[in-house]
Amino acid sequence: MKVEVIFFLTEKFHDYFFNRSVVVIDVLRATSTIITALSNGAKNVIPTPTVEEAVKIAKNLERSTYLLCGERNTKTIEGFDLGNSPLEYTSERVSGKKIILTSTNGTKVFEILKHSKNVLIASTLNASAVVEKMKSLDDEWFIICSGRDGFFDESDALCAGLLIELLLKQSEKVDLNDAARVSQIIYSKAKNNLLKHFKNTDHGKILIANGFKNDIEFISQIDRFSVNANFVNNSIGLLE
Ligand code: MLT
Repeated sequence: MKVEVIFFLTEKFHDYFFNRSVVVIDVLRATSTIITALSNGAKNVIPTPTVEEAVKIAKNLERSTYLLCGERNTKTIEGFDLGNSPLEYTSERVSGKKIILTSTNGTKVFEILKHSKNVLIASTLNASAVVEKMKSLDDEWFIICSGRDGFFDESDALCAGLLIELLLKQSEKVDLNDAARVSQIIYSKAKNNLLKHFKNTDHGKILIANGFKNDIEFISQIDRFSVNANFVNNSIGLLE
């Protein structure tokens, strides 16, 4: 199996993922929030790149059927129902609801994945399930780190490294690119205290400064959920 990690999404990638299999990571926090919402019974998640688009989608839906959610600068967008903290997405709050979600980086990635073959959603929270699915679909995979405003995001690389480590434990032959090998090295140095390392990342420090330390603690749980979710027809749902 060939696995390539991508740290930066440049122009080159705009048509690159047509009919290809990808895994999306924005571990702090969009993909962790998506996995938590779906595990707690949300009907689906509609990732949207902008606040305007999120509001537009909501306008066409019955008010009781959806929650309008997202963040800018880590904070809940004014007038929205929920922010981007996985801890807000309890079953009481999200069960049966469509989640329209916009975040600074994570939800934008899906714009270039509309014609991909498989698009899996990954977090520490469902890492083993993702790896199982990658193995069972036995394809060539691209692991996309959403990054932070075009910058390298170590938290995403740590999560990519976790996936690589789990894959290597189970598969004899995994052909990795440089970024995948680097991710694995970063993760192997951090794995004994993932929480501490998440807290020390640039993104972790921003979240702590804005009062979201508990989110990092929650997201540091590996395999809290054994679910897979995929993106198809502009919507993310649980995968059997
Ligand atoms: C993002 O999409 O950039 C993040 O999920 C931001 C956040 O931590 O809320």
